[in-house]
Amino acid sequence: MRVSVAQAFQPARHGIEVDQRAGWKAYATEMRSSVGIIGRSARRQRRRGMARRRTFWQRAASRLARDWSLPLMFEPPVKIQIVPTNACNLRCRACPKTWYDTDNRPMAPEVYARVREQALPVALEAHLQGLGEPTLSPLFDEMVRDAIRLDLPFHFVTNAARLTDERIRLLAESKAFVTVSLDGATADSHEWSRTEKSDFAHVLRTLETLNEARRQARGGALTIQISTVVTRRNVAEIPDIIRLAKRVGASAISLITPGMGPRDDEFAREAIGRHEETYRAHWPAIRQAAQEAGIALIAPPYLEAPAPTPAPEQGEAPRDAAPAEARRRTRRIFPRKCFAPFREMYIDVDGWVRPCCVATGIGMGNLLERDLMTIWNNRHYRRLRRAINSNNPPGFCRGCSAADGITGGDEAFLEKHYARGHPPLPDPPKIGFLWVKDEGKLIEF
Ligand SMILES: C[S@@+](CC[C@H](N)C(=O)[O-])C[C@H]1O[C@@H](n2cnc3c(N)ncnc32)[C@H](O)[C@@H]1O
Ligand code: SF4
Repeated sequence: MRVSVAQAFQPARHGIEVDQRAGWKAYATEMRSSVGIIGRSARRQRRRGMARRRTFWQRAASRLARDWSLPLMFEPPVKIQIVPTNACNLRCRACPKTWYDTDNRPMAPEVYARVREQALPVALEAHLQGLGEPTLSPLFDEMVRDAIRLDLPFHFVTNAARLTDERIRLLAESKAFVTVSLDGATADSHEWSRTEKSDFAHVLRTLETLNEARRQARGGALTIQISTVVTRRNVAEIPDIIRLAKRVGASAISLITPGMGPRDDEFAREAIGRHEETYRAHWPAIRQAAQEAGIALIAPPYLEAPAPTPAPEQGEAPRDAAPAEARRRTRRIFPRKCFAPFREMYIDVDGWVRPCCVATGIGMGNLLERDLMTIWNNRHYRRLRRAINSNNPPGFCRGCSAADGITGGDEAFLEKHYARGHPPLPDPPKIGFLWVKDEGKLIEF
């Protein structure tokens, strides 16, 4: 069977049955060899050692898929998130690791072997990150060396405790984007948030060493960023953190306003998400400090915007005027579109592919059982791509706290939407594999 590009996009319209897995596999094989968008050209590219280069058709098809929520992707994931380990040496007050029963394993070597073979050569960027501290993984240095060998830019977030001088020298040869967690401009506030196990003086020394390595690196392109979890206690210090970030050569600061869900401990009560007006009152000073320092400011859009004002036809207006206008035109309920299922893949320590770093309880397929491209276009991914930017997204997206998720980082978005008097959404589609711990079994939806 020869398949045209149009047929490849809308197989059902052209009478091509792809919904059963066997059918889909046969279809995919045909499509790869006849359309050749990914298969033939990628194979040719790989032979020439250029598997990361995308063809014009791959890029165009990805763009269409993202904009029109089409289910198939002809381009491999642009970004691969690999979890070096889920274990951690600290227990910070904000972190789910401190409050919930979490996984504590490093990535299995056989999983990393698959990642090295199938994911790293085709990705355009990597993110070495799970819930824990990536530098604790026995595989971390190997991952960095592989990225250097492949000239692959990569990012990770670290508490800096294990960033030894030797490791920093290795990083200086790479295209690493290193984010260091710093929750205060003083020892008191940093160590209150991240506990005294995270020595403020050590974090500062490490940042200075990183900066020195960054300045001296010849071929490398080391970049430093700061990540700060914002609370009512440290919000006034953020301009000082920004100036400190500037001193240590950081190019950006990421302000994290984590959702606390049902938590009601001391930290949760201080989390800035529960004091939005306080955050807004400090926002102009924060923005000015960043402008003066020439540092990029990354913050959830829903908190940057002015407080909601009533809109004549809807009662209370959604937060962000521009997206609200866009949503009225498109009739979208959620303020943002999320492109994670079109561009990134999260690979957990045991080989499970997850939709993103928020939906870590959902499996899309296991890399030990299926190859990467088969999972990337399996029925779970196809259903997710159709649903995610619709008005009936999966349950795990509806309360998303990621700034680039469909809620714009506001995990209480839907609650507020209902409070404005909107009718309830339909039951969310169930997608992927779910491990039901109590029953000790894996359910595939
Ligand atoms: C989960 S940590 C993992 C990396 C590393 N262990 C660290 O602390 O830098 C990644 C970043 O998320 C921040 N963080 C902590 N608790 C969070 C939460 N509940 N939601 C979102 N981010 C959180 C951390 O402060 C850190 O900057
Ligand atoms: S160091 Fe990072 S992963 Fe570890 S507890 Fe703190 S925030 Fe969580």
